[in-house]
Amino acid sequence: MASAGAGLEGVVATTSKICFIDGDQGVLSYFGYNIHTLAENATFEEVIYLLWNGKLPNREQLSDLTKSLVAERELPGEVTEFLRSVPKDAAPMDVLRTAVSILGLYDPLARDNSIEANVKKAAKLMARVATIVTSFDRLRKDQPVLPGDPNLGYAANFLYTLCGKKPDEIMERVFDVALILHADHELNASTFAARVTAATLSDIYSAVTSAIGALKGPLHGGANEDVIRLLLSTRSPDDAVQSVKHKLENKQKIAGFGHRVYRVLDPRAIHLKKMSEELGKRTGHSELFEKSARVEQTVSELKNLNANVDFYSASTYYSLGIPIDLFTAIFAVSRMSGWTAHVLEQYRNNRLIRPRADYTGAPDGQRWTPVENRS
Ligand SMILES: CC(C)(COP(=O)(O)OP(=O)(O)OC[C@H]1O[C@@H](n2cnc3c(N)ncnc32)[C@H](O)[C@@H]1OP(=O)(O)O)[C@@H](O)C(=O)NCCC(=O)NCCS
Repeated sequence: MASAGAGLEGVVATTSKICFIDGDQGVLSYFGYNIHTLAENATFEEVIYLLWNGKLPNREQLSDLTKSLVAERELPGEVTEFLRSVPKDAAPMDVLRTAVSILGLYDPLARDNSIEANVKKAAKLMARVATIVTSFDRLRKDQPVLPGDPNLGYAANFLYTLCGKKPDEIMERVFDVALILHADHELNASTFAARVTAATLSDIYSAVTSAIGALKGPLHGGANEDVIRLLLSTRSPDDAVQSVKHKLENKQKIAGFGHRVYRVLDPRAIHLKKMSEELGKRTGHSELFEKSARVEQTVSELKNLNANVDFYSASTYYSLGIPIDLFTAIFAVSRMSGWTAHVLEQYRNNRLIRPRADYTGAPDGQRWTPVENRS
């Protein structure tokens, strides 16, 4: 039996039509649409449609999707009650993971694993994941949950129901682009987790619950929170550089750098860097961008590592006024579109995912020792 390298590096585990990455050239596309094309032209709703259907929507299809995402925003009362009941200092990713799992209990379609039912459940998940994050944040601050505005698109409604204020056009577009950039990324750890769960023919709620659990780790989506904490813990760009040098001398990793697949700059980081700079100027957080740019330069010089998607998304979200501990949850809100697309693709052409392990333990045939004789 051939053995895969540590962390399954370089292993091709499935076929998929959804997302293409060329890590040597820095190319990322969803169904053949380059990420730069999408970041410059698409709305997040168009990208959701693309990921689920493999093509861009016409006007009517887009309008239908937008309406269904608005119609499904409201949470079952039991889920809101759960959000009200959790400790106010609970980690948002833990709350999100559990709340998404609870959603399945109150969906009459939960046990229907037909493609039609799963398409409907994907829309519910997509709409409600945002409501869970914004509602939890408001409830923990003793603020009333806002019902959302049916005239606002996905990105604008998220910011409105989070902050209680409608975003201006620039804030809305920045957030929309951030959602587009995080929407899918081939067989990353959380998407793989979702596909493994779906491949047992378990339900879509279980699959995305697995994914959220995988995303929260600091080697995956959790990195964006670590990035901002590092930046905010330093007094100046020079201090940020010193702090990073110190970490590297002590063989510590710098959050927001390195990637399993990209050997050149992550194409998503290009847009996030630009947005971080522009938004920083508008919102008075330019120093955060300056620190980020100096840290990027230092890590590049000392370790030859590039910034990944999490590095500049940190300062971008901070400048949007988003609470730090929601950063990873926002990644989950966007990635819900990719997870559900992959789960639907898995169901359409399923085979159980069950690899083998290269056993390195004691040989078979160990002698049994009664408990009283064991040392
Ligand atoms: C993303 C990541 C998990 C990829 O991991 P990987 O492919 O398993 O790569 P490794 O952890 O084996 O790293 C390979 C080498 O680069 C170094 N390296 C990788 N990322 C690094 C980072 N962020 N800071 C400093 N060194 C890093 C490792 O220490 C290792 O060096 P060594 O060979 O001298 O021991 C890794 O780069 C990382 O931990 N990054 C920080 C967390 C992060 O930003 N995650 C979000 C990813 S989008």
